[in-house]
Amino acid sequence: MVAEQCRCESEEFKELDAYIAQFRDKKSSLIKVLYEAQRLFGFLSEKAMLFIADRLDVPAAKIFGVVSFYSYFTTTPKGRHQIKCCMGTACFVRGSEKIIAAFEEKLKIKRGETTTDLEYSLDSLRCVGACGLAPVVLVNDQVFGKLEAPDVDTILANNKG
Ligand code: FES
Repeated sequence: MVAEQCRCESEEFKELDAYIAQFRDKKSSLIKVLYEAQRLFGFLSEKAMLFIADRLDVPAAKIFGVVSFYSYFTTTPKGRHQIKCCMGTACFVRGSEKIIAAFEEKLKIKRGETTTDLEYSLDSLRCVGACGLAPVVLVNDQVFGKLEAPDVDTILANNKG
């Protein structure tokens, strides 16, 4: 196979192109490539999905189908700080609803939404395996545990800009 020159301008697309180039069996690497694209861009835009379709020689409809099937993938932009409140049983019992409500109030967004300045996204998720720290919140890859509603101010103050 002959390596193609990347036709895209942005660094992220070049990086994604290089990532794709490492796979011999491109069609079976679709999930990995989508995962990497979402890591790079923060979400999967139509442009990114069409790029992947072209590079993997996979129909765009298949890409759109996979992306809409797996809840992990998102086609809407996420904030620089992705706040995810665990709503698993242990966290729920220990007050996770109050924590997420405090984030909603402070950020003036609902769960599943992103602030207009793209600084913060707020989502809920199921047990992250840290039940001993319930209630738990993830901010990007950082774990915060044993939270109370006032801790939300501290978390936001330490994760801005
Ligand atoms: S229920 Fe939240 S970490 Fe397990």
